[in-house]
Amino acid sequence: MSPPVAGPRRLLIRDLEQLATPAAARAPLRGRELGAVEVTERAYVLCAEGRIESVGAMDDLDVRGDVEELDGRGMCAVPGLVDCHAHVCFAGDRVEEFSVRAAGASYEELHAAGGGILATVKPTRAAGEDGLRAAVERHRDWMLRAGTTTFEGKSGYGLDRDTELASLRAIRDAGGVPTFLGAHAVPPEFESADAYLNFVVGEVLPEAAPLAEAVDVFVERGAFDVEHARRYLTDARRLGLELRLHADQFTEAGGVDLAIELGARSVDHLEATGERGVGALGAAEVTAVLLPASALFLDRPMPPARNLVDAGAAVALATDFNPGSAFCESVPLVCSLACTQLGLSPAEALTACTVNAAHVLRRADRKGRLAAGYDADVVLLDAPDWRYLAYHLGGPVVAAVIRGGEAVWRR
Ligand code: NIG
Ligand code: FE
Repeated sequence: MSPPVAGPRRLLIRDLEQLATPAAARAPLRGRELGAVEVTERAYVLCAEGRIESVGAMDDLDVRGDVEELDGRGMCAVPGLVDCHAHVCFAGDRVEEFSVRAAGASYEELHAAGGGILATVKPTRAAGEDGLRAAVERHRDWMLRAGTTTFEGKSGYGLDRDTELASLRAIRDAGGVPTFLGAHAVPPEFESADAYLNFVVGEVLPEAAPLAEAVDVFVERGAFDVEHARRYLTDARRLGLELRLHADQFTEAGGVDLAIELGARSVDHLEATGERGVGALGAAEVTAVLLPASALFLDRPMPPARNLVDAGAAVALATDFNPGSAFCESVPLVCSLACTQLGLSPAEALTACTVNAAHVLRRADRKGRLAAGYDADVVLLDAPDWRYLAYHLGGPVVAAVIRGGEAVWRR
């Protein structure tokens, strides 16, 4: 007996209160275009075979043939959220450190005393590959429930060959976009950053490169300096990887200039970036990834987001999800912080965590917009207006998540 012939898998999300999507088809969007969001009232999204077939107003809907329907009344649609900076692969927690910080200790003091990142290295090394896979899947599922349909995942809590490679495999197999963060901190078995970097570049990077899409380095006092970073990033580029940097989180240590010099994909954090750095980024190709949840969690100054946007910089928003500086997987919460702390509008925040974040992950041709031909990744908000995405501070704003044309989560 021959199997029944299946028609194309189609899903119609109908009768939405509003549909909101970044307007321009380019990426990254800068300046005034960052806030150009197209809003359709009484809208629909038609998905077929994992892609968007069409979007528009209900009045213009013309659909024939078999189609599954999802009632969008009372809800708004925005593109699936893209978290382009997330440390998803770690074991254990830092709740004790959190309490100590709440009593007044600073993150940098704890880092200098061998806590911080290194406190997470121990349980991550001990977790084994299965333990790491379980951790990444758990974190990915938290993110999905907050509306994230595409996520980056950094290694960087193994800092030895086997755990770093296992981390990258776990991230890739869970559907994440893997970034090798071998230069995150100097582990205790090495006496200097130089010695550790020789090991990373010589013995880990060549094997990490085929498993990752990008590399990342923490440029900061107490971590790696610009010369370390230049060497590591230049080698990584030779192996075909995109370049990313953690820079200016606590001090202006030269990471911004290096990112521009090397043509990095992104430079992330920038809480300490001054006027000169803002001006340089305004004229550069590199995307500035802002992480306000991390600044909030560590009670640090917010990055100069408004100045960056006004200077013409390409700006993206992300969570920085990790156990120490941002135990927060919610992009909607980051959008709230963008509007209340960074001086961005809800429209600018939406573009920054969809199309521009997709650009950082080299996926802006398929992710980050609700338009025909894009991947059918859609977040349905439990709200009469799409701006609740940022307005409902920490609330249960995500009603359903569609990924690749399938409803993968519903409240
Ligand atoms: O982006 N600053 C470097 N890395 C992370 C924090 C990692 C941690 O504290 O575990 C960040 O904030
Ligand atoms: Fe980070």
